[in-house]
Amino acid sequence: MSAKGKVFVSRIIPEAGLALIRAACNAEIWEDPLPPPADVLRSKLADIDGLVSLLTDKLDAAVLDHAPRLKVVSNFAVGFNNIDVPACTARGIAVGNTPGVLTDATADMAFCLLIAAARRVVEGHQYTLSGAWKTWEPLGHLGQDLAGRTIGIVGMGRIGYALARRCQRGWDMKVLYHDVYKNANAESELGAKQVDLPTLLRESDFVSLHADLNDATRGMIGAAQFKRMKRSAVLINTARGPLVDQKALADALKSGTIFAASLDVTDPEPPSMDDPLLKLPNVVIAPHIASATVETRNRMAEICAKNLIAGVTGQPLPAWVNPEVAPKRRT
Ligand code: GLV
Repeated sequence: MSAKGKVFVSRIIPEAGLALIRAACNAEIWEDPLPPPADVLRSKLADIDGLVSLLTDKLDAAVLDHAPRLKVVSNFAVGFNNIDVPACTARGIAVGNTPGVLTDATADMAFCLLIAAARRVVEGHQYTLSGAWKTWEPLGHLGQDLAGRTIGIVGMGRIGYALARRCQRGWDMKVLYHDVYKNANAESELGAKQVDLPTLLRESDFVSLHADLNDATRGMIGAAQFKRMKRSAVLINTARGPLVDQKALADALKSGTIFAASLDVTDPEPPSMDDPLLKLPNVVIAPHIASATVETRNRMAEICAKNLIAGVTGQPLPAWVNPEVAPKRRT
């Protein structure tokens, strides 16, 4: 038996992380482009010490019951709504994620989506490709100005702050935010104002979602919330698809209740090809790529590997979701 911990990596991640993992662990890497089916994942869990998981790997209590020696789950993502963290903690399993290193890439993507929807870039691209472009049109393709408008940030954590900073410093926007916590830095540095959600929806020109997905936030933006928004408003979601009631979003976009939406995340992912959203001109949908830059994914892979190795060897995780597990970690 190898003295190295046995680990399963549920997809090919950048070599920056895989090299560290291979050097420190006895690693099996799932090389298929699609996630391991649930029964395969369960069977891999039977005798491993560590798991690198992706957002597509659901790790609930029932699945964790198939992992008698698992010491660590290292998620290749900052979000960890695919993992039942209390169930991990109860079983002495450490959980790691990849915060910080993807903040700028994700905020860049949120801004890119904001401007793409506000200025109808994708619609214009389709128009060009279709051959419909005949001349310069004084009344065609009219979008929304950005400078001096109001951005509403729902969830003023690292990524929300980074987007707010871009909007305020670069485009002179007023910043409103809704969060259970006060963000003193956003208030002092960006003049951000904390407001309740109805106020944010009523007063913002652009509403960008950066909240965690949990029972309190699931479906937080639905028909009632769209009705409160400006008809010229743009919704941006780079957080998690289920924050938004997708059927209500399609209705709001179709009826002109809001101007446009720009999504990096959907519910489910990918959306079904007959989802009404896909037929609308005023929505931009990217395939969950906010952290997808070469440098960011390399840094995520490194943190992910370091969390995994620390978990397998009983060290503190560099990015530890459940440090409260420390006194009862599996050895
Ligand atoms: C991606 O969505 C992540 O949580 O890192």
